[in-house]
Amino acid sequence: LKLFTLNGNLPLAKKVAEEVGLPLSPASVKHFADGEIQIDLDDSVRGADVFVIQPVSAPVNENLMELLIMIDALRRASAHRINVVVPYYGYARADRKARSREPITAKLIANLLEMDGIDRFVAVDLHADQLQGFFDIPVDHLKAKNLFADYFASKHFGDNVVVVAPDHSGTKRARSLAELLHAPIAIIDKREEDTIGVIGDVKGKHAIIIDDIIDTGNSVVEAYGALKAAGVLDIYAAATHPVFSKGAAARLATLDLQEIVVTDTIEVAPENHLPNLVTLSVG
Ligand code: R5P
Repeated sequence: LKLFTLNGNLPLAKKVAEEVGLPLSPASVKHFADGEIQIDLDDSVRGADVFVIQPVSAPVNENLMELLIMIDALRRASAHRINVVVPYYGYARADRKARSREPITAKLIANLLEMDGIDRFVAVDLHADQLQGFFDIPVDHLKAKNLFADYFASKHFGDNVVVVAPDHSGTKRARSLAELLHAPIAIIDKREEDTIGVIGDVKGKHAIIIDDIIDTGNSVVEAYGALKAAGVLDIYAAATHPVFSKGAAARLATLDLQEIVVTDTIEVAPENHLPNLVTLSVG
């Protein structure tokens, strides 16, 4: 068994290596001035079961290309089985043709990985469960909900807590966390632009907004405003994948959130480490 990492999330890969008691196998990854990437495996992988850890997070296309080149190198070096662990599957939101002439990039990435020769795909909290069907190989879809449930249970909110879906499509995710916390759910109801309501009883309660991704932070900002207007006691924002694209941290910093609770599927850049950021580890 051999474990490799690329440049996507070194701290998480180190944590996983420690957890499973395996060293990270050496590989050198060079980025040339023209943008090309060269990967050299420093040890034999002939006949080995190999795991490669690499999120498809920013810089999304570079991290994806590193992964594809690594798989090619492993296959040509006669690895027995190639398992890729993609803690965050970038492009996952492009999972359907919602408008005419739109690509389905999440399916394209699945095709690229499969054509490259992977045997197993492991991911954490895919944007939608159905993404598993984009692959014809085994997919392990790991869920972070128990991490969040244990974390929030330790706050002993009692009956005075509600789990909030930031939009209708997040209802299932909110319900599965709420079940673990024995809490009710509420839904942010975005009817039209500028008309945001709350479905459910939130007044005087601790509200936990749960999402899969915080990208621009706009969904949290909107949910926050609606929950404040509905008279909640206080607000926590939780999401598995802290994408935190440019401006997100500044946007979130304007809110009086008790905490922003995320996981380490993506390494948060130092400039985005808000004082109320809590990181749980999926490692
Ligand atoms: C949307 O379908 C996702 O589940 C998230 O709600 C969304 O990606 C969050 O993005 P942002 O932080 O930009 O609102």
